[in-house]
Amino acid sequence: MKKKLPGKKGIILKEDWEIEILRKANSIVARVLQILKEQLAEGISTHDLDQLAESEIKKSGGIPAFKGYKGYPATLCISINDEVVHGIPRKDRLLRQGDLVSMDVGVIYEGYVGDAALTATVGAPSEEAARLMAVTEEALLKGITQARPKNRLGDISHAIQRHVEGAGYSVVKQFVGHGVGKALHEPPEIPNFGRRGRGPVLKPGMVLAIEPMVNAGSHDVKILEDGWTAVTVDGSLSAHFEHSVAVTKKGPVILSVPEQE
Ligand code: MF3
Ligand code: CO
Repeated sequence: MKKKLPGKKGIILKEDWEIEILRKANSIVARVLQILKEQLAEGISTHDLDQLAESEIKKSGGIPAFKGYKGYPATLCISINDEVVHGIPRKDRLLRQGDLVSMDVGVIYEGYVGDAALTATVGAPSEEAARLMAVTEEALLKGITQARPKNRLGDISHAIQRHVEGAGYSVVKQFVGHGVGKALHEPPEIPNFGRRGRGPVLKPGMVLAIEPMVNAGSHDVKILEDGWTAVTVDGSLSAHFEHSVAVTKKGPVILSVPEQE
């Protein structure tokens, strides 16, 4: 989500039964992302992938969460190469071999929102793309590890920033992760940079969408004239991974994984 000015509303704690619904919503998201990843191929349009995402979500009993959100026109956000987030699917945008493709999906199921994203390439990745994807996903997992009771929000932010900058890359600052529940965006905002030991104390029942966006070059991003697509100012590659995570007594639980049979 886009970073807003400071606003301090409370973080909504979820009951166990609500977390089970959020798990279901997120398992649909995870399954759709897997299907989309398998479909990445030269010549397919981003619109085709959007249609596929929408039909799979509906088949699962869900509703696309992004479509109509603040006027966003599609089910899928699909952001290629120097596009950071919120790329709008188009009939005339065809994937090419080697493209670095971030896909972000949101689903409403029984009134609760699932939200996750991943980045993959069309065919084999370049060395740079492979390293950027690995560092971004590792940063997400390091952030998730910090999502346990008694830690603070800044511990998550700091772990992500440290891993990314240690690898020589930049975290995007204009967009942040967020709480998620009945609404796609709930408090708190979760920056991908920050200081250890700062911010709200984490409690069981919090559900957090943690989503590092990482640029190979500078952190600067700008929005294109479509009003949505964020791109790197220097044209460098950008990757994005997101999981929705429940903070539990036992530690972090990733909700955005396919349902286990
Ligand atoms: N995961 C993204 C976010 O939290 C997706 C939002 S797309 C939008 O900002 F269209 F719904 F805004
Ligand atoms: Co999100």
